[in-house]
Amino acid sequence: MTPERPFPTGPDDPTGPPPGCPAHGLAAGGPGRLAEADDLEALYERLRREHGPVAPVLLHDDVPMWVVLGHAENLHMISTPALFCRDSRIWSPLRDGLVKPDHPLMPHIAWQPVCSHAEGTEHQRLRGAVTSAMAPIDYRSLRRHITRHTQRLVNRFCEEGRADLVAEFAEHLPMGVMCELLGMPNEYGDRMVEAARDTLKGTETAIDSHAFVMAALGRLTARRRARPEDDIASRLVTHPAGLSDDEVREHLRVVLLAAYEATVNLIGNVLRVVLTDPGFRAQLSGGQMTVPEAVEQSLWDEPPFSTVLAYFAKQDTELGGRRIRKGDGLLLGIAPGNVDPRIRPDPAAGMQGNRSHLAFGAGPHECPGQDIGRAIADCGVDALLMRLPDIQLDCDEEELRWRSSIASRHLVELPVYFGPRPPQAVTQQPSHTPVPQQRTGWQVGSRPACPEAETPAPGPAPEPEPALAAVPAGPAPGAGEPGESGEPRAPRAPGEGHHPPGAWQRLQLWWRGY
Ligand code: HEM
Repeated sequence: MTPERPFPTGPDDPTGPPPGCPAHGLAAGGPGRLAEADDLEALYERLRREHGPVAPVLLHDDVPMWVVLGHAENLHMISTPALFCRDSRIWSPLRDGLVKPDHPLMPHIAWQPVCSHAEGTEHQRLRGAVTSAMAPIDYRSLRRHITRHTQRLVNRFCEEGRADLVAEFAEHLPMGVMCELLGMPNEYGDRMVEAARDTLKGTETAIDSHAFVMAALGRLTARRRARPEDDIASRLVTHPAGLSDDEVREHLRVVLLAAYEATVNLIGNVLRVVLTDPGFRAQLSGGQMTVPEAVEQSLWDEPPFSTVLAYFAKQDTELGGRRIRKGDGLLLGIAPGNVDPRIRPDPAAGMQGNRSHLAFGAGPHECPGQDIGRAIADCGVDALLMRLPDIQLDCDEEELRWRSSIASRHLVELPVYFGPRPPQAVTQQPSHTPVPQQRTGWQVGSRPACPEAETPAPGPAPEPEPALAAVPAGPAPGAGEPGESGEPRAPRAPGEGHHPPGAWQRLQLWWRGY
């Protein structure tokens, strides 16, 4: 163990700069200021060079914390509940009054009576109810549902020849699927998507949006308490752990928002790489990589949660050669841990077949919804690419923007263009050709993302599609969107066909005043 000055609790470090001192983090070897970093990835690499696998950082208001950068050190921390827990009530800076109640990271850190913050027998009680509620999910019908939902979403924009895949696809698919799984398919809609997005962004309307989500979950809890059905809410209500209505509602919130945010990020990240990395796309369309493998690669390279705030030391200990004091806080460094040079000497090398990334955590708090998250991303991306194989990025790659925080990085928009085409019946397997059974390049792998895509579902015959090389300028005027049974919906405005890459993005930027 390396002897060193105490950090981050450090009240007994007379030589160190006081909290708030600008000297913090400026000198080489000093802690990194996370709140001020434009490029967190670069900062983590600097800290790794200067400090090794566990480095001191400063959060907003110069609140000290450790960031765990090493893969092995992260795994050790999250798999050793005797030494580290997620209960922030033991965090020294909080106990000492250094963290103000309005600290911007309090929504992540403040203790709540939910499984993510609980430990020991209470954690087992709450988490047991959540995992039991998810256990009976039939993945075959879940995948069918994801595929149908993807069909519906693509039908909303396929005639226009362009779309923003973040706002019109990635942000909708997980919400639609999760509302169905929780037991409130009728609550799914644009308002629910906006409310979840707003809640997580923390804008000035976030409180109202959060109240909107909680009201829907409260109604669901009451309905299922009165009359249970076959869904996650009902199984939480009836679980032998005896969750109160508040506990059920809070866990529905944790599940809905954790699933929503992470899966939106994952879908956006995978699609962005497909659209911007010709090598990646060639591997996919050439059959060297399946969509599930592409999703797994993305979980290594751009994990949907880049860090988890936070773990806390239950006693004095040592991690990565650092002396950790009881009450210290530690960031679970998912993104930096995934690129630890000790396990990935060449970060550009593919990680196919290797699932030991940290994207879902590990140990007692390991994500219990990872198979659902993977299914939504695998099936959704696969079905989208089956429908729109000619999809192209509609802006320069450099124009893409992210909303970043210490916890995650969210692509703001992903504008694309493609040959306009008619909608398909949602029960039809996604295809861009009139031959449903034909495998396209996206499927030429060892394992299909969606079994349904291999077994044609009974339903209306597929719409005849034009050959890719001969894309029509727009849909027939008045063409509608078929619903579940193929019935037409409201007419749409005719699409405008291809247009120069970048033009749509520039128009949007101008319109929004950027
Ligand atoms: C790609 C999608 C997802 C990613 C990357 C992801 C990632 C994570 C991570 C990193 C954690 C924290 C682990 C820790 O504290 O050590 C977590 C916890 C959790 N996730 Fe996920 N998640 C995803 C999807 C989902 C889905 C779909 C659900 C529910 C259906 C879900 C439910 C939860 C719950 C309930 C917890 C708290 C578990 C506990 O503390 O015991 N997640 N997830």
